[in-house]
Amino acid sequence: MKNVKICFIGGGNMATAIISGLFKKYGEDLNIHLIDHKNKNLEEISKKFKISTSCNFDESIRSCDVIILAIKPQQMKEVAISLRPYTQSQIVLSVAAGIRIVDLTRWLSGYKAIVRCMPNMPAAIGLGITGIVASLEVSQSQFDIVVSIMQSIGETVVLDNERLIDAVTAISGSGPAFVFYFIEAMIQAAVELGLSYEQGRKLAINTFIGASHLVNQSDESISILRQKVTSKGGTTHAGLSSMDSYNVKNSIGMALGAASIRASLLAVELGIE
Ligand SMILES: NC(=O)c1ccc[n+]([C@@H]2O[C@H](COP(=O)([O-])OP(=O)(O)OC[C@H]3O[C@@H](n4cnc5c(N)ncnc54)[C@H](OP(=O)(O)O)[C@@H]3O)[C@@H](O)[C@H]2O)c1
Repeated sequence: MKNVKICFIGGGNMATAIISGLFKKYGEDLNIHLIDHKNKNLEEISKKFKISTSCNFDESIRSCDVIILAIKPQQMKEVAISLRPYTQSQIVLSVAAGIRIVDLTRWLSGYKAIVRCMPNMPAAIGLGITGIVASLEVSQSQFDIVVSIMQSIGETVVLDNERLIDAVTAISGSGPAFVFYFIEAMIQAAVELGLSYEQGRKLAINTFIGASHLVNQSDESISILRQKVTSKGGTTHAGLSSMDSYNVKNSIGMALGAASIRASLLAVELGIE
């Protein structure tokens, strides 16, 4: 990353997460320029990290290797159009939900070296997961740079088809909210079963953390692990049987399907000129 110059456009939550991840992973050996029209954002980030900043588009964009578009999807068209005079051989990396490569290319007047990423909220603490897909015009070495950048905020999954980014959006992009929903339901149940809110919160969160780590580290399949804690006639069996009778697995599938459909519709809506 030492010889890679990165220019961020947009200095909000996601840019802050990536910049912080990069500094954690690579130390001070970085060349980062941040552009945001809000001075407050620039001041806050540059107080913490050694980066250059600007309120406006400037020549740094032209000389960088990677332009990271970390703005809201609704701001993408306007920003991409303003970016036209500055693109030459950089990789344009978008982290925006619902913005298709084809639309970015059109707004960038035919520019094609584009990578689309879908990170998620735990990126803020370095535990994100990012789906990554590149246009054919991105070289392997450019792609490797993008993967290294996104790995500074967690794990990555490389996709060979942009259509799959809608599924990533549903599973891991929206996923933290689904996990929070499940945790909330567990805490509510804990309280109804007589525990305090704090006790329920601690039990629910640490069960998620422990189960996730176990499944991640284990050589056994998820269903074997589940069977191991489900003895016939026992408590877990009673709980899972109840979930089956309410078709919970099916409901989860429907919810993720709805999120994926919404992601693809959003992409069409956002891509309309
Ligand atoms: N946050 C997440 O957990 C998450 C997860 C997955 C994907 N993403 C994606 O990441 C992208 C950024 O999200 P975010 O939460 O970081 O957004 P954010 O906090 O709103 O940050 C975007 C920043 O860019 C600034 N900006 C807008 N237009 C600009 C321009 N023309 N020039 C310079 N700066 C400009 C915005 O200023 P104003 O507020 O004045 O517009 C804001 O400070 C989104 O597209 C989102 O879909 C975020």
